[in-house]
Amino acid sequence: MTDHTKSPVLQPFALGDMQLANRVVMAPLTRSRSSEEGVPPPFAADYYGQRAEAGLIISEATNISPQARGYALTPGIWTDAQVESWQRVTRAVHRRNGRIFLQLWHTGRLSHPDLHGGALPVAPSAIKPAGQAFTSSGLKDFVTPRALETDEIPAIVEDYRHAAKKAKEAGFDGVEVHSANNYLLEQFIRDSTNRRTDCYGGSIENRLRFPLEVVRAVVEVWGPQRVGIRISPSTTMPGESPMDSNPMATYGTYVDALSQTGLLYIHCIEGTTQLSRDPAGVDFPALRRRFRGAYMANNQYTLALAEEMLAAGKADLFSFGRPFIANPDLVFRLRTGAPLAEAPKEYWYGDGKTGYSDWPGMEGQIRVEV
Ligand SMILES: Cc1cc2nc3c(=O)[nH]c(=O)nc-3n(C[C@H](O)[C@H](O)[C@H](O)COP(=O)(O)O)c2cc1C
Repeated sequence: MTDHTKSPVLQPFALGDMQLANRVVMAPLTRSRSSEEGVPPPFAADYYGQRAEAGLIISEATNISPQARGYALTPGIWTDAQVESWQRVTRAVHRRNGRIFLQLWHTGRLSHPDLHGGALPVAPSAIKPAGQAFTSSGLKDFVTPRALETDEIPAIVEDYRHAAKKAKEAGFDGVEVHSANNYLLEQFIRDSTNRRTDCYGGSIENRLRFPLEVVRAVVEVWGPQRVGIRISPSTTMPGESPMDSNPMATYGTYVDALSQTGLLYIHCIEGTTQLSRDPAGVDFPALRRRFRGAYMANNQYTLALAEEMLAAGKADLFSFGRPFIANPDLVFRLRTGAPLAEAPKEYWYGDGKTGYSDWPGMEGQIRVEV
Protein backbone atom coordinates (compact mmCIF):
# COMPACT_ATOMS: atom_id res chain seq x y z
CA MET A 1 0.00 0.00 0.00
CA THR A 2 1.32 3.44 -0.91
CA ASP A 3 1.62 6.06 1.80
CA HIS A 4 -0.13 9.29 0.81
CA THR A 5 0.22 10.98 4.20
CA LYS A 6 1.91 13.96 2.56
CA SER A 7 -0.69 14.41 -0.17
CA PRO A 8 -1.60 18.13 -0.33
CA VAL A 9 -5.25 17.09 -0.63
CA LEU A 10 -5.06 15.51 2.81
CA GLN A 11 -3.58 18.54 4.58
CA PRO A 12 -5.68 21.02 6.60
CA PHE A 13 -7.50 23.78 4.74
CA ALA A 14 -8.97 27.04 6.01
CA LEU A 15 -12.50 27.41 4.62
CA GLY A 16 -13.62 30.84 5.70
CA ASP A 17 -13.26 30.88 9.48
CA MET A 18 -13.30 27.08 9.71
CA GLN A 19 -10.17 25.00 9.88
CA LEU A 20 -10.91 21.77 7.99
CA ALA A 21 -8.81 18.68 8.71
CA ASN A 22 -8.33 18.06 4.97
CA ARG A 23 -9.69 19.02 1.54
CA VAL A 24 -11.88 15.93 1.22
CA VAL A 25 -15.60 16.63 1.42
CA MET A 26 -18.36 14.07 1.69
CA ALA A 27 -20.76 14.94 -1.14
CA PRO A 28 -24.50 15.03 -0.45
CA LEU A 29 -26.00 11.55 -0.77
CA THR A 30 -29.71 10.85 -0.58
CA ARG A 31 -30.11 7.51 1.18
CA SER A 32 -33.89 7.35 1.72
CA ARG A 33 -33.94 6.08 5.30
CA SER A 34 -36.15 8.76 6.86
CA SER A 35 -39.72 8.30 8.08
CA GLU A 36 -42.80 9.37 6.12
CA GLU A 37 -42.72 12.52 8.31
CA GLY A 38 -39.22 13.32 7.07
CA VAL A 39 -37.47 12.46 10.34
CA PRO A 40 -33.99 10.93 9.94
CA PRO A 41 -33.63 7.58 11.77
CA PRO A 42 -31.58 7.41 15.00
CA PHE A 43 -28.86 5.44 13.20
CA ALA A 44 -28.31 8.40 10.81
CA ALA A 45 -26.16 9.77 13.66
CA ASP A 46 -23.93 6.66 13.41
CA TYR A 47 -23.75 6.94 9.63
CA TYR A 48 -22.70 10.60 9.60
CA GLY A 49 -20.52 10.29 12.72
CA GLN A 50 -18.57 7.42 11.16
CA ARG A 51 -17.70 9.69 8.20
CA ALA A 52 -16.60 12.69 10.30
CA GLU A 53 -12.95 12.32 9.29
CA ALA A 54 -13.86 14.16 6.07
CA GLY A 55 -12.82 17.81 6.19
CA LEU A 56 -16.50 18.66 5.69
CA ILE A 57 -19.69 16.64 5.29
CA ILE A 58 -22.58 17.92 3.19
CA SER A 59 -25.77 16.20 4.33
CA GLU A 60 -28.14 14.42 2.01
CA ALA A 61 -30.60 16.75 0.27
CA THR A 62 -33.19 17.86 2.84
CA ASN A 63 -36.66 19.18 2.04
CA ILE A 64 -37.32 22.74 3.17
CA SER A 65 -41.12 22.26 3.34
CA PRO A 66 -43.81 19.67 2.56
CA GLN A 67 -44.15 21.23 -0.91
CA ALA A 68 -40.44 20.62 -1.55
CA ARG A 69 -40.72 16.83 -1.38
CA GLY A 70 -40.08 14.79 -4.49
CA TYR A 71 -38.99 11.43 -3.11
CA ALA A 72 -40.45 9.21 -0.42
CA LEU A 73 -38.37 8.64 2.73
CA THR A 74 -36.24 11.77 2.37
CA PRO A 75 -35.62 14.01 5.40
CA GLY A 76 -36.98 17.46 6.10
CA ILE A 77 -35.99 20.49 8.14
CA TRP A 78 -39.21 22.29 8.95
CA THR A 79 -40.57 20.49 12.08
CA ASP A 80 -39.24 20.22 15.63
CA ALA A 81 -39.13 16.41 15.39
CA GLN A 82 -36.88 16.68 12.34
CA VAL A 83 -34.65 19.18 14.12
CA GLU A 84 -34.30 16.89 17.16
CA SER A 85 -33.16 14.00 15.02
CA TRP A 86 -30.71 16.18 13.11
CA GLN A 87 -29.32 17.39 16.45
CA ARG A 88 -28.19 13.83 17.15
CA VAL A 89 -26.43 13.80 13.78
CA THR A 90 -24.60 17.10 14.25
CA ARG A 91 -23.57 16.09 17.79
CA ALA A 92 -22.13 12.80 16.56
CA VAL A 93 -20.11 14.57 13.86
CA HIS A 94 -18.86 17.29 16.21
CA ARG A 95 -17.82 14.76 18.86
CA ARG A 96 -15.39 13.37 16.28
CA ASN A 97 -14.25 16.93 15.41
CA GLY A 98 -15.99 16.92 12.06
CA ARG A 99 -17.95 19.65 10.32
CA ILE A 100 -21.34 19.27 8.67
CA PHE A 101 -23.48 21.49 6.41
CA LEU A 102 -27.13 20.79 5.60
CA GLN A 103 -28.17 20.73 1.95
CA LEU A 104 -31.42 22.69 1.45
CA TRP A 105 -33.69 21.18 -1.22
CA HIS A 106 -36.87 21.83 -3.17
CA THR A 107 -37.49 19.32 -5.95
CA GLY A 108 -39.99 21.40 -7.96
CA ARG A 109 -41.30 19.46 -10.96
CA LEU A 110 -39.27 16.33 -10.09
CA SER A 111 -42.01 15.09 -7.80
CA HIS A 112 -45.41 13.40 -7.90
CA PRO A 113 -48.99 14.14 -6.69
CA ASP A 114 -48.74 11.10 -4.36
CA LEU A 115 -46.31 13.13 -2.26
CA HIS A 116 -48.71 16.09 -2.08
CA GLY A 117 -52.08 14.54 -1.22
CA GLY A 118 -53.00 14.46 -4.89
CA ALA A 119 -51.98 18.07 -5.68
CA LEU A 120 -49.66 18.76 -8.60
CA PRO A 121 -45.96 19.43 -8.02
CA VAL A 122 -44.95 23.06 -8.66
CA ALA A 123 -42.44 24.43 -11.17
CA PRO A 124 -41.56 27.63 -13.01
CA SER A 125 -43.48 26.36 -16.04
CA ALA A 126 -45.87 23.51 -16.79
CA ILE A 127 -43.34 21.28 -18.55
CA LYS A 128 -43.39 17.55 -17.84
CA PRO A 129 -40.07 15.88 -17.03
CA ALA A 130 -39.25 12.52 -18.57
CA GLY A 131 -38.90 9.57 -16.21
CA GLN A 132 -40.31 8.49 -12.89
CA ALA A 133 -40.66 9.69 -9.32
CA PHE A 134 -39.96 7.52 -6.25
CA THR A 135 -43.18 7.49 -4.20
CA SER A 136 -44.26 5.48 -1.14
CA SER A 137 -45.93 3.02 -3.51
CA GLY A 138 -42.98 2.70 -5.88
CA LEU A 139 -41.89 4.40 -9.09
CA LYS A 140 -44.53 6.45 -10.90
CA ASP A 141 -44.35 8.48 -14.10
CA PHE A 142 -43.68 12.18 -13.65
CA VAL A 143 -46.69 14.40 -14.40
CA THR A 144 -47.03 17.88 -15.89
CA PRO A 145 -46.43 20.24 -12.94
CA ARG A 146 -48.35 23.39 -12.14
CA ALA A 147 -46.64 26.70 -12.97
CA LEU A 148 -46.22 28.81 -9.84
CA GLU A 149 -48.14 32.09 -9.70
CA THR A 150 -45.88 35.11 -9.30
CA ASP A 151 -47.34 35.89 -5.89
CA GLU A 152 -46.61 32.37 -4.59
CA ILE A 153 -42.85 32.77 -4.96
CA PRO A 154 -42.15 34.96 -1.89
CA ALA A 155 -43.66 32.24 0.33
CA ILE A 156 -41.13 29.71 -1.02
CA VAL A 157 -38.30 32.13 -0.29
CA GLU A 158 -39.69 32.29 3.26
CA ASP A 159 -39.73 28.48 3.42
CA TYR A 160 -36.00 28.54 2.66
CA ARG A 161 -35.47 31.14 5.38
CA HIS A 162 -37.43 29.04 7.88
CA ALA A 163 -35.47 25.91 6.95
CA ALA A 164 -32.19 27.81 7.29
CA LYS A 165 -33.20 28.87 10.82
CA LYS A 166 -34.15 25.30 11.70
CA ALA A 167 -30.77 24.11 10.40
CA LYS A 168 -29.15 26.48 12.88
CA GLU A 169 -31.28 25.07 15.70
CA ALA A 170 -30.21 21.59 14.60
CA GLY A 171 -26.55 22.48 15.19
CA PHE A 172 -25.21 22.44 11.64
CA ASP A 173 -22.05 24.40 10.84
CA GLY A 174 -23.65 25.95 7.77
CA VAL A 175 -25.91 25.21 4.83
CA GLU A 176 -25.53 24.40 1.16
CA VAL A 177 -28.22 25.70 -1.18
CA HIS A 178 -29.05 22.91 -3.62
CA SER A 179 -29.12 24.72 -6.94
CA ALA A 180 -28.03 21.66 -8.93
CA ASN A 181 -29.35 18.51 -10.57
CA ASN A 182 -32.39 20.14 -12.14
CA TYR A 183 -34.38 20.70 -8.98
CA LEU A 184 -36.49 23.82 -8.41
CA LEU A 185 -33.76 26.47 -8.42
CA GLU A 186 -32.14 25.09 -11.55
CA GLN A 187 -35.57 24.79 -13.20
CA PHE A 188 -35.83 28.57 -12.82
CA ILE A 189 -32.28 29.19 -14.06
CA ARG A 190 -32.43 27.29 -17.35
CA ASP A 191 -34.34 28.61 -20.34
CA SER A 192 -35.24 24.99 -21.18
CA THR A 193 -37.44 24.62 -18.09
CA ASN A 194 -38.36 28.27 -17.45
CA ARG A 195 -40.76 29.76 -20.03
CA ARG A 196 -42.26 32.36 -17.71
CA THR A 197 -43.22 35.80 -18.93
CA ASP A 198 -43.24 37.55 -15.53
CA CYS A 199 -40.27 39.01 -13.66
CA TYR A 200 -39.01 35.45 -12.92
CA GLY A 201 -38.63 34.42 -16.58
CA GLY A 202 -37.16 35.53 -19.90
CA SER A 203 -33.85 37.37 -19.44
CA ILE A 204 -30.94 35.85 -17.52
CA GLU A 205 -31.45 38.44 -14.81
CA ASN A 206 -35.10 37.40 -14.44
CA ARG A 207 -34.34 33.66 -14.42
CA LEU A 208 -31.75 34.19 -11.68
CA ARG A 209 -34.10 36.36 -9.61
CA PHE A 210 -35.69 33.58 -7.56
CA PRO A 211 -32.49 31.59 -6.86
CA LEU A 212 -30.76 34.80 -5.78
CA GLU A 213 -33.70 35.76 -3.55
CA VAL A 214 -33.33 32.35 -1.91
CA VAL A 215 -29.59 32.79 -1.45
CA ARG A 216 -30.07 36.23 0.11
CA ALA A 217 -32.73 34.93 2.52
CA VAL A 218 -30.45 32.09 3.64
CA VAL A 219 -27.50 34.48 3.95
CA GLU A 220 -29.60 36.73 6.18
CA VAL A 221 -29.89 33.80 8.59
CA TRP A 222 -26.36 32.44 8.43
CA GLY A 223 -24.11 35.19 7.10
CA PRO A 224 -22.42 34.62 3.71
CA GLN A 225 -19.43 32.78 5.15
CA ARG A 226 -21.52 29.82 6.31
CA VAL A 227 -23.43 29.38 3.05
CA GLY A 228 -22.30 27.40 0.03
CA ILE A 229 -24.14 26.57 -3.17
CA ARG A 230 -24.15 23.60 -5.51
CA ILE A 231 -24.47 23.98 -9.28
CA SER A 232 -24.44 21.52 -12.19
CA PRO A 233 -24.66 23.42 -15.48
CA SER A 234 -23.88 20.37 -17.66
CA THR A 235 -26.16 17.84 -15.98
CA THR A 236 -29.37 16.85 -17.76
CA MET A 237 -30.69 14.30 -15.27
CA PRO A 238 -33.05 13.64 -13.61
CA GLY A 239 -36.03 14.44 -15.79
CA GLU A 240 -34.09 14.69 -19.08
CA SER A 241 -33.78 18.41 -18.44
CA PRO A 242 -31.97 20.05 -21.37
CA MET A 243 -29.01 22.31 -20.67
CA ASP A 244 -29.47 26.06 -20.82
CA SER A 245 -29.08 27.39 -24.38
CA ASN A 246 -26.15 29.59 -23.27
CA PRO A 247 -24.77 28.04 -20.09
CA MET A 248 -21.66 30.20 -19.80
CA ALA A 249 -23.68 33.43 -20.05
CA THR A 250 -26.32 32.20 -17.60
CA TYR A 251 -24.11 30.47 -15.03
CA GLY A 252 -21.34 33.06 -15.44
CA THR A 253 -23.81 35.78 -14.45
CA TYR A 254 -25.03 33.59 -11.60
CA VAL A 255 -21.52 32.98 -10.28
CA ASP A 256 -20.73 36.71 -10.47
CA ALA A 257 -23.79 37.47 -8.33
CA LEU A 258 -22.95 34.69 -5.87
CA SER A 259 -19.41 36.02 -5.61
CA GLN A 260 -20.71 39.51 -4.87
CA THR A 261 -22.89 38.07 -2.11
CA GLY A 262 -19.68 36.78 -0.53
CA LEU A 263 -20.69 33.10 -0.41
CA LEU A 264 -18.27 30.67 1.18
CA TYR A 265 -17.99 28.25 -1.73
CA ILE A 266 -19.42 27.06 -5.03
CA HIS A 267 -19.73 23.31 -5.33
CA CYS A 268 -19.51 22.41 -9.01
CA ILE A 269 -20.51 19.09 -10.49
CA GLU A 270 -18.08 18.96 -13.39
CA GLY A 271 -19.82 17.15 -16.25
CA THR A 272 -22.93 15.01 -15.83
CA THR A 273 -23.57 13.91 -12.24
CA GLN A 274 -22.20 10.40 -11.72
CA LEU A 275 -22.02 9.65 -15.44
CA SER A 276 -19.35 11.67 -17.22
CA ARG A 277 -16.72 14.35 -16.73
CA ASP A 278 -17.41 15.75 -20.20
CA PRO A 279 -18.08 19.44 -19.44
CA ALA A 280 -20.38 19.72 -22.49
CA GLY A 281 -19.15 23.20 -23.34
CA VAL A 282 -19.09 24.57 -19.79
CA ASP A 283 -15.75 26.16 -18.87
CA PHE A 284 -15.50 25.24 -15.18
CA PRO A 285 -12.07 26.89 -14.64
CA ALA A 286 -13.59 30.13 -16.01
CA LEU A 287 -16.45 29.87 -13.51
CA ARG A 288 -13.89 29.33 -10.76
CA ARG A 289 -12.01 32.47 -11.79
CA ARG A 290 -15.21 34.50 -11.52
CA PHE A 291 -15.81 33.43 -7.91
CA ARG A 292 -13.98 34.95 -4.94
CA GLY A 293 -14.69 32.18 -2.43
CA ALA A 294 -13.59 28.54 -2.46
CA TYR A 295 -14.22 26.18 -5.37
CA MET A 296 -15.35 22.68 -4.45
CA ALA A 297 -15.04 20.20 -7.31
CA ASN A 298 -17.11 17.04 -7.71
CA ASN A 299 -17.71 14.12 -10.00
CA GLN A 300 -15.72 10.94 -10.31
CA TYR A 301 -12.80 12.22 -8.26
CA THR A 302 -9.93 10.02 -7.18
CA LEU A 303 -7.07 11.15 -4.95
CA ALA A 304 -4.80 11.34 -8.01
CA LEU A 305 -7.21 13.53 -9.97
CA ALA A 306 -7.75 15.76 -6.93
CA GLU A 307 -3.97 16.19 -6.56
CA GLU A 308 -3.66 17.06 -10.24
CA MET A 309 -6.46 19.66 -10.07
CA LEU A 310 -5.09 21.16 -6.86
CA ALA A 311 -1.60 21.46 -8.35
CA ALA A 312 -3.08 23.15 -11.44
CA GLY A 313 -4.91 25.64 -9.19
CA LYS A 314 -8.27 24.48 -10.55
CA ALA A 315 -10.00 23.67 -7.24
CA ASP A 316 -9.67 24.05 -3.47
CA LEU A 317 -11.84 21.22 -2.16
CA PHE A 318 -12.94 17.89 -3.60
CA SER A 319 -16.17 16.16 -2.81
CA PHE A 320 -16.51 12.41 -3.05
CA GLY A 321 -19.96 10.87 -3.24
CA ARG A 322 -20.20 7.16 -4.01
CA PRO A 323 -16.82 6.30 -2.41
CA PHE A 324 -18.17 7.42 0.98
CA ILE A 325 -21.06 4.94 0.91
CA ALA A 326 -19.00 1.80 1.62
CA ASN A 327 -15.90 3.53 3.02
CA PRO A 328 -16.78 5.41 6.20
CA ASP A 329 -13.02 5.93 6.73
CA LEU A 330 -12.40 7.11 3.17
CA VAL A 331 -9.83 9.68 4.28
CA PHE A 332 -7.86 7.02 6.17
CA ARG A 333 -7.95 4.75 3.11
CA LEU A 334 -6.79 7.54 0.79
CA ARG A 335 -3.97 8.35 3.20
CA THR A 336 -2.77 4.76 3.50
CA GLY A 337 -3.54 3.62 -0.04
CA ALA A 338 -5.88 0.94 1.32
CA PRO A 339 -8.35 -0.59 -1.14
CA LEU A 340 -11.79 0.97 -1.46
CA ALA A 341 -14.91 -1.10 -0.85
CA GLU A 342 -17.76 -0.74 -3.34
CA ALA A 343 -21.42 -0.54 -2.36
CA PRO A 344 -23.85 -2.50 -4.49
CA LYS A 345 -26.55 -0.15 -5.83
CA GLU A 346 -29.30 -1.99 -3.98
CA TYR A 347 -27.96 -0.41 -0.76
CA TRP A 348 -28.03 3.15 -2.06
CA TYR A 349 -31.65 3.86 -1.19
CA GLY A 350 -33.71 2.65 1.77
CA ASP A 351 -32.94 -0.52 3.69
CA GLY A 352 -32.53 0.52 7.31
CA LYS A 353 -29.03 0.11 8.69
CA THR A 354 -28.02 -2.46 6.11
CA GLY A 355 -25.55 -1.06 3.61
CA TYR A 356 -25.78 2.28 5.42
CA SER A 357 -24.37 2.51 8.93
CA ASP A 358 -22.94 -1.02 9.06
CA TRP A 359 -19.90 -0.60 6.78
CA PRO A 360 -16.71 -1.23 8.80
CA GLY A 361 -13.57 0.86 8.53
CA MET A 362 -10.17 -0.74 7.79
CA GLU A 363 -9.65 -1.05 11.53
CA GLY A 364 -13.11 -2.37 12.35
CA GLN A 365 -16.45 -0.78 13.16
CA ILE A 366 -16.04 2.95 13.83
CA ARG A 367 -17.50 3.82 17.22
CA VAL A 368 -19.58 6.95 17.37
CA GLU A 369 -20.76 8.75 20.49
CA VAL A 370 -24.24 10.15 20.09
C1 LIG B 1 -26.97 7.43 -3.94
C2 LIG B 1 -26.73 8.86 -4.38
C3 LIG B 1 -27.45 9.87 -3.80
C4 LIG B 1 -27.21 11.21 -4.17
N1 LIG B 1 -27.90 12.21 -3.53
C5 LIG B 1 -27.59 13.51 -3.78
C6 LIG B 1 -28.18 14.55 -3.02
O1 LIG B 1 -28.96 14.33 -2.09
N2 LIG B 1 -27.85 15.83 -3.34
C7 LIG B 1 -26.97 16.13 -4.36
O2 LIG B 1 -26.70 17.30 -4.61
N3 LIG B 1 -26.38 15.14 -5.06
C8 LIG B 1 -26.65 13.86 -4.79
N4 LIG B 1 -25.99 12.86 -5.47
C9 LIG B 1 -24.88 13.20 -6.37
C10 LIG B 1 -23.54 13.13 -5.61
O3 LIG B 1 -23.45 14.12 -4.61
C11 LIG B 1 -22.35 13.30 -6.57
O4 LIG B 1 -22.51 14.52 -7.25
C12 LIG B 1 -22.21 12.18 -7.58
O5 LIG B 1 -22.35 10.91 -6.97
C13 LIG B 1 -20.87 12.24 -8.32
O6 LIG B 1 -19.80 12.18 -7.37
P1 LIG B 1 -18.97 10.80 -7.16
O7 LIG B 1 -18.45 10.43 -8.54
O8 LIG B 1 -17.89 11.14 -6.20
O9 LIG B 1 -19.95 9.79 -6.66
C14 LIG B 1 -26.24 11.51 -5.15
C15 LIG B 1 -25.53 10.46 -5.74
C16 LIG B 1 -25.75 9.16 -5.37
C17 LIG B 1 -24.94 8.06 -5.99
